[in-house]
Formats: sequence, C-alpha cells, structure tokens
Amino acid sequence: MKIKRIAVLTSGGDSPGMNCAVRSVVRFAHWKGIEIFGVMHGYRGLISEEFIPLGPRDVSNIISRGGTILKAARCEEFYEKEGREKAYKNLISRNIDGLIVIGGDGSFHGALLLHQEFGFPVVGIPGTIDNDINGTQRTLGFDTALNTAMSAIDKIKDTATSMDRIFLIEVMGRLSSAIAVFSALAGGAEDVIIPGERTDLKNMIEKIEEGRKKGKKSWIIIVAEGAGKAEEFAREFRKYISDVRVTVIGHLQRGGGPSAFDRILGALMGQAAVQALLEGKHCHAIGWRNDDVIVYKLQEAIKPQDRGKISFYHQLIHILT
Ligand code: F6P
Repeated sequence: MKIKRIAVLTSGGDSPGMNCAVRSVVRFAHWKGIEIFGVMHGYRGLISEEFIPLGPRDVSNIISRGGTILKAARCEEFYEKEGREKAYKNLISRNIDGLIVIGGDGSFHGALLLHQEFGFPVVGIPGTIDNDINGTQRTLGFDTALNTAMSAIDKIKDTATSMDRIFLIEVMGRLSSAIAVFSALAGGAEDVIIPGERTDLKNMIEKIEEGRKKGKKSWIIIVAEGAGKAEEFAREFRKYISDVRVTVIGHLQRGGGPSAFDRILGALMGQAAVQALLEGKHCHAIGWRNDDVIVYKLQEAIKPQDRGKISFYHQLIHILT
C-alpha cells in the first residue's frame, strides 16, 4: 500500500519537544511528497473531525516553543470501541493512510487498538516527561522536565541552606521514578522517596538528626509523586523536626522551551516515524537506544517497563548520601 496522506496528533499530557516532532513529521513528509494533516486535541479531534492541512510554513518558528501547537487532551470516548470506530471512519473518509501519535503510554494503547481493530497503520512517538515507555531509553520532554526540576532544586537549596531548613520537593512522573532520581542526583539532594521502594522515614529522620549534630543543617529530599504526597511525608517529619517545608514543582515541569536534546530527539523521531510508515511498519513505536533512533513493535512499547531499568534507579539512590 502506497502512503499518500498522513495525519499527526499529540495526545495525553503535553511535553516539551512535541512541537519539534510535529515540525519534523510535516517537513519530512512534505519532502517525500506526502500530504499531511494535523489533528487538533489528540484523539478527541480524531472523533470530532478537527483536521487541519499542514505545510512546511505552518510549522515555522515552533522548534523553540513548549507545549504543542496541535493541543493535547485526554479522551474518554476513545477508550470505547464506538469512539475508535468513529475516528477510523473519519480517517478513511479523508483518504488518510497512516497516523502518527505523539504521546505516552495511554496514547500508545489507543493507537494499538486502532490498528488491531481496524488494521489502520499507526506509529507512536514517545512524548511524555515521565520517561516511562518500555524499550526506549528516552522519551520526548523528559530531558527538559529534568532540567526544570533541577533548576528548581538549585533555587530551593539556596533558601534551605540560608535558613537551615529541611525541604521535601515533590516532582512529577506518575509511577515512574525517573525525574525524581535523576533530579536528585543532578541537584545534589540528600535523599529521594520513590514508588516501589519501602521508605524508611525513621531512618531518614535519624540521619538528619545525626547530621545536624555534626553541623549539617539543611537537607533536600525529593519525592516522586507516585510515592505519595510530599505534604503527607512532611507531616511525619514534623513530629520530630521543626522547620520542614514542602515545594510541589507540579506543571512547571511540563512547560518551557525544549532543551537542545529534546529538539534533536523530536527532529529525529519525527523523521523516523514517517519513514517507518513508508517502509510498511504499521504498528510500531520510535525509540532511542544507545545514541540512536530505533523502530520497534508497539506491543513491546506498551509492556510494563523493564525491571532492570527500575532497579537501576534504585541503585542510583545509594550515590546520594
Ligand atoms: O504524564 C505526564 C504527567 O505530567 C505526569 O507526570 C502527571 O502525573 C500527570 O501528567 C498530570 O496530569 P494532568 O496534567 O492531567 O494533571
């Protein structure tokens, strides 16, 4: 089957670098003589027919912009087969031959179902700050979010040191520990609380009290949101230590212009996604492994993340103090 028309959408939580991938998809497809349509608001726009034709000039000056010009959404209707059927019919009625989905785990599940139920060609680009897609060492937006978290930690450290305080800093990442562990390392935090690891708060408190006796007065502990609310951990700490403060970095981590790495990753992944469709890879994901772009099965990408990677995060914690 010859691919003549492709649609591209961004879905789920936006991530820095999505625009770079859209730009690359549009420009590479145009160069290959393929018509491109952007779908606004992710799967929602696929159902409600929000298709817009895109040419090379429509993606000018978006490489440095955070968020996504195509908008992103989480779509309940697409969880139902009826919704997916509507989406499929809308694609077919426009003679679209392939769909590129830029999003996270949930968006990849949706793409897989569209392929399995209707045979529609799909390729996924992992766009999420969480770095939690199986089979790829990096997801688009993770590097930028990590740098945002690190800068926030640097700033909090200034005030923590000046006022001899303990800070718990909550970072995003759903059930993934990636932002938490790497920002803790990069920001020079003393400890990190992550999901799937029993947190020995008593031991942490003892370490802080010991440290204080020896003259170490301030302490930064990073909390992965999947491990629980930083405010709740702080309540436990306050039973023993006064002057504990909490910062939730929150959605700041999703915004901002993409880092150089995410811009390049978006460019490479966008091109690879179009190329994959052209080569008849119709149920695939694009990934990043050993400094190179890879194309692998979508089924592999939606599997739970490799245990090896998770235990790697756990090992890194021991470097902190
Ligand atoms: O998946 C990206 C992410 O930012 C997670 O880290 C976070 O748990 C979630 O999305 C927040 O979602 P929302 O923006 O819908 O509140």
